[in-house]
Amino acid sequence: MEETEETEEKQEKKHTKWVKSVMGLVALGEAAVIFIGLQFIPYGRGYNNPPVKAEPKWDSPKTRELFFRACGTCHSNEVAWPWYGYIAPVSWFIQHDIDKGRAALNVSEWGRAEGNSGDSAETVQNGSMPPSTYGILHPSVRLATPEKQAFIQGLVATFGSKDESKHKDKQDDK
Ligand code: HEC
Repeated sequence: MEETEETEEKQEKKHTKWVKSVMGLVALGEAAVIFIGLQFIPYGRGYNNPPVKAEPKWDSPKTRELFFRACGTCHSNEVAWPWYGYIAPVSWFIQHDIDKGRAALNVSEWGRAEGNSGDSAETVQNGSMPPSTYGILHPSVRLATPEKQAFIQGLVATFGSKDESKHKDKQDDK
């Protein structure tokens, strides 16, 4: 009598374990389905580089090179998408940054929105650009100090400093 009770208890435990693992699998399956489903949302799919229309007159090839290395991902139409840039939801964050970045400054559509370009040197100087989260993921965008100084000078030579560019904008307006 006692023995059968024990086996029943054992059996029930076994059953609970089984149910739990099936539920775990179902949850995992659902997560996988959702994850796969996310991939079909047509946002941040990469390869949406609009054509390059015009570039600023760079003061030197070095400035251009550094710009594309440290800033081009978000401020140009020549974005090299990383592999994880294709995976939602990461791709959405990247797309969002690029959309906002291009709206603020786009060296591939020069002559359109260059209003903020005069801030470039300042943003590098004060460290707000490239955004620090980006620097964590892409160590190559972090500039060594001598390189940074040269870059800042190049940015000033190319885009002017803040006040100059405002002045220039006014002249252009006429
Ligand atoms: C990871 C994307 C990313 C990178 C890399 C990046 N930026 Fe930006 N940048 C942005 C975004 C997003 C904005 C818009 C900021 C906002 O609206 O808050 C912006 C805005 C700007 C502005 C407008 C002024 C401002 O502060 O809002 C300037 C100038 C600028 N960036 C320069 C640069 C320069 C120079 C570099 C390279 C050293 C760079 N950015 C690298 C995303 C980026």
